[in-house]
Amino acid sequence: MSSHILAIDQGTTSSRAILFRPDTSIAAEAQQEFAQHFPSSGWVEHEAEDLWNTTVSTCRQAIAEAGIGPADIAAIGITNQRETVVVWDRQSGRAIYRAIVWQDRRTAAHSARLKGEGHEELVTARTGLILDPYFSATKIGWILDHVPGARKRAERGELAFGTVDSWLLWRLTGGKVHATDITNASRTSLFNIHEGRWDDDMLALFGVPRSMLPEVKECADDFGETLPELFGGPLPIRGVAGDQQAATIGQACFEPGMIKSTYGTGCFALLNTGETVVASANRLLSTIAYQIDGRRCYALEGSIFVAGAAVQWLRDGIGIIASSAESEKLAEAADAGQHVYLVPAFVGLGAPYWEPEVRGAMFGLTRATTSAEIALATLESVSYQTADLIDAMHADWQASGAGAAPTVLRVDGGMSASNFFVQRLADIIAAPVDRPVVRETTALGAAYLAGYKSGIFPAPEHFADLWRLERHFTPSMPAVTRERKLAGWRDAVWRLTMA
Ligand code: G3P
Repeated sequence: MSSHILAIDQGTTSSRAILFRPDTSIAAEAQQEFAQHFPSSGWVEHEAEDLWNTTVSTCRQAIAEAGIGPADIAAIGITNQRETVVVWDRQSGRAIYRAIVWQDRRTAAHSARLKGEGHEELVTARTGLILDPYFSATKIGWILDHVPGARKRAERGELAFGTVDSWLLWRLTGGKVHATDITNASRTSLFNIHEGRWDDDMLALFGVPRSMLPEVKECADDFGETLPELFGGPLPIRGVAGDQQAATIGQACFEPGMIKSTYGTGCFALLNTGETVVASANRLLSTIAYQIDGRRCYALEGSIFVAGAAVQWLRDGIGIIASSAESEKLAEAADAGQHVYLVPAFVGLGAPYWEPEVRGAMFGLTRATTSAEIALATLESVSYQTADLIDAMHADWQASGAGAAPTVLRVDGGMSASNFFVQRLADIIAAPVDRPVVRETTALGAAYLAGYKSGIFPAPEHFADLWRLERHFTPSMPAVTRERKLAGWRDAVWRLTMA
């Protein structure tokens, strides 16, 4: 009997394919990076063909490495970088412009104009999001307005829009399926998260023709079958979720009040708020965590645009480390008496500041500052940003009347491999942090959805029993040190955003 689940994790800097066994252990995995294009300041693009080609080739590699055939794979689950926009020609199946990536800021002025005209209240009420270039809607508009003839063609129904999951589904099924899942839909600014449907007022506000939009399905659902020639036989696609929502599922945060934080390119913390949409008074997002068997669960989300990307910058930008793993060694050697702060606003600041136009800065440099203090400031900047999110979440959660604030944070993603970083995180947020045995939670979440739909994995509450703790980090920094450090961080952000 088919027993493996193939998870596709199409991320911001690489595509990955992971084959899971039914006990959630990993049978094989493959990863491929692809080119990042920065054609102008604040612009970030991917070739849609690169996303597709690296996805197919990593799937083939993982299948070959596991030494199994299509008959051994029960289903595929897809998870993906969210908000990133692909617009393609339905006839040729080719993108009409490069994918505009979630980090891209080119529509900052458009977002600011809509805000200035007073539209943010309605956008938030319907979509749970705020007006910021982060989300898909203004990016779709940009493509329609800048690619010659695109708007007319879209109006004639010749063009399709999709987040990356839709693009991959379209290609995997040979153009038979134009669909997305409810979590990816909830990141577009076009989707009414209360009613679970595309919102005509949002389509009109952002000028997006309805004919471009994919059908919205649940996360564990029937998304069609892959073309037989791709993997030696047709494979059913049975699960889709945006990567942060998939990580929430992979971390088994199924109960209201549970919170996870994933450290990939950016950092995204999600607090499960159950079947209630909690409106944030602190500039967090209300979003859909998942919908399974008709049960829709919501989350409060804090989105930080630069986390692992800051460590990458230490390596590729200023070259003070040769590998990401070296950052912690260097940081450990830092002089604790220096107070250096990095505000890594390389693509503006996300939650809770939402400042798309600011750019990064470093404060507190002296003649004594070395690469060690810069490495420490970089790792700490991610902890400070997480602390900002957690504080905002606690405030919103308490204001919602839901009871005591959640106490433990579950972490995953590349940076969570560093003991130094996770300990510093626990110290700065002054709360315990749990790291699971399976840190591939994003892929695991996608695999879970597909496996649940195929009868391989149990219902969510039982799947939660499979979650295993690898290490519990307890805060140990003296309160006075923590307060001084956080005050320094807030001062640095204030200087940057008020300048
Ligand atoms: O919202 C953007 C997010 O989905 C990207 O995730 O893992 O590439 O940082 P990641």
